[in-house]
Amino acid sequence: MIGYLNGQYLPQENIVISPEDRGFLFADGIYEVIRSYSGKLFRSKAHLDRLSHGARALQFNQTDFSYLESVCEKLILENCLTQGDAVIYMQVTRGVAPRSHAFPPIETPLTVYATAKSFQPHLQESETGIQVILVPDQRWARCDIKTIGLLANTLAHQRARNSQATEGLFVRDGAVMEGTHSNVMAVMDGKVITPPRTNYMLAGITREFVLGLCGDLSIPFSETPLYESDILKADELMIVGTTVEVTPVIAINGENIGSGTPGPITRKLQKAFHQTTQTVNFFPP
Ligand code: PDD
Repeated sequence: MIGYLNGQYLPQENIVISPEDRGFLFADGIYEVIRSYSGKLFRSKAHLDRLSHGARALQFNQTDFSYLESVCEKLILENCLTQGDAVIYMQVTRGVAPRSHAFPPIETPLTVYATAKSFQPHLQESETGIQVILVPDQRWARCDIKTIGLLANTLAHQRARNSQATEGLFVRDGAVMEGTHSNVMAVMDGKVITPPRTNYMLAGITREFVLGLCGDLSIPFSETPLYESDILKADELMIVGTTVEVTPVIAINGENIGSGTPGPITRKLQKAFHQTTQTVNFFPP
């Protein structure tokens, strides 16, 4: 496998990161996960724009990562991933410097790392739907930054796995924000409802894309808070994200949602999403 580090393409086993990297010491970094379908990147511009948003928020010395699009393309080619599905992971940290809470000198080069791997979509989960649990949101107040500091997410996700659920949904002050690695959408009275973009959730690229599909398919939608008490009464529920695409949720905390099977609007959106990714020409990215 060939990876990318700071301008070089190297065999993955030769990629070495310093223990003084601020990503290692402070989780002082940001990341993106981009999907490719048959070698074509899905919404890469939106992902790289979000990386820039994070870099600006963290006051990095570089905030334009548009060049990473061609890095992703090269990694797909080098790793023979032009057929089937793949994911590209990229991470940018504030670079290497002796440990100190203060930022290192502004000219310290960022560490930029990227890797591409083949990806098996979760077909069974998309078909039958998944169970989720509600978990208290113990994250910080800048969840709009896609930071590599993911402990609250991994702890909540593992808690879900330990309860035989596939995803945890974060609840803050009675409102459901998002999943540990996905956004959430409910269907109530024929309308798709998803929490509005705030600093307490990640502005998901898939979320934005699925809202666009709602528009195309004349499915009414609104970005309004989803309270814990409402969500339990939803007709349908789904999680959306780069890796989960559109996955139906059939139960929360062991209680069925609607009929306890994937609902018709979820199926419509899943189908439209799948059609898009299987169409060769889903650009502009
Ligand atoms: N996570 N919310 C959170 C907390 C996420 O980590 C993710 C994605 C999403 C969905 O965003 P998008 O549609 O842009 O992928 C929402 C990635 C896939 C991950 O951490 O692996």
